[in-house]
Amino acid sequence: MDNRKLSIGTASIALFAAVLTSCSARTEKSNIGNTGTKTAWGTTPDGQTVELYTLRNSKGAEARIMNYGGVLVSLKVPDRSGVLGDVVAGLDSFQDYLKPPPYFGAIIGRYGNRIGNARFTLNGVEYNLSKNDGQNSLHGGARGFDKRLWQATPLSPQSLELKYRSADGEEGYPGNLDVTVKYTLTDANELRIDYSATTDKDTVVNLTNHSYFNLSGEGDILAHEVMINADRFTPIDKGLIPTGELKDVTGTPFDFRTATPIGKRIEQKDQQLIFAGGYDHNWVLNRTGNGLEMVAKVSDPKSGRMMEVLTTQPGLQFYTGNFLDGTLKGKGRTYARRSAFCMETQHFPDSPNKPSFPSTVLKPGSVYQSTTVYRFATF
Ligand code: GLA
Repeated sequence: MDNRKLSIGTASIALFAAVLTSCSARTEKSNIGNTGTKTAWGTTPDGQTVELYTLRNSKGAEARIMNYGGVLVSLKVPDRSGVLGDVVAGLDSFQDYLKPPPYFGAIIGRYGNRIGNARFTLNGVEYNLSKNDGQNSLHGGARGFDKRLWQATPLSPQSLELKYRSADGEEGYPGNLDVTVKYTLTDANELRIDYSATTDKDTVVNLTNHSYFNLSGEGDILAHEVMINADRFTPIDKGLIPTGELKDVTGTPFDFRTATPIGKRIEQKDQQLIFAGGYDHNWVLNRTGNGLEMVAKVSDPKSGRMMEVLTTQPGLQFYTGNFLDGTLKGKGRTYARRSAFCMETQHFPDSPNKPSFPSTVLKPGSVYQSTTVYRFATF
């Protein structure tokens, strides 16, 4: 009897202590059972808590994602000696992400990349979007999905679901759009991103993730070797808007059908490279169907890390960090020009104004669905 009392008493003290500890540690770390780890990471200007979620697989790889912008803050995968290293660009505090960022790691929407003159016509109605890139609208406008707080639900220690409702008229787009993005870190060292969305009015949608990779973690990315399975790309004008042409890559610095170091041709006197200050173009992926297909591969001779990109999307924006200028710092690194690259799987830029491009229109009753996998290995 006495023993029972004692153990109940001890248990309540232990419980009380645990509650106290968890309260005082709220800004530190809270284990959320068998669904992974979450940490309070900051507060939005309107007072909402920003959480950082950690996913881990059985190989020790780790991904950190915050519910603000659905940003992939860090991604640690092994190099050829098995040493884990962070292969994505990121900043050290949540506050740093509030400054105008180059979209490090963020989910991009409602429309990834540019819409020319920040307008398009759908069903005879002209929609005017927010202009945040000269005359154009870039990555969803002034406050795209990268600058919104998403509702996060951990599904398992390896998977996180994020939801966001983009209201009718937000940034000029028609229709309430309900978006779900699921990040999964698989045991095959893949970061898988599943996107889906539904609308209550005809609208346009183009979702992507804007992670900046450097497979060595730091330094420039010019020695990384890139393969892109594409016979054509979409040339751009000086405002980086596609002209509408699908141009054969043969004989151009845009031919990555065989693995080529990024730096090999980037300084060539090619009008397309000059317009963008390097690579910042959409490749028309060679596809055999609508399924998940391997479309690009990047190998880093220094670390021995290799990344394959698999997607269901028709296009890939390969961007070589030409606008990074060394002013941003994080993770002990300085984000200098061309110190990271992006592989944004997507529909082609400016599709709403290019009837010949694959359609980005989503109608009520249909579901937008796409998947992209970044798969890591060593050689
Ligand atoms: C995309 C665009 C680039 C640039 C970056 C963000 O990759 O294509 O031109 O805007 O995003 O800096």
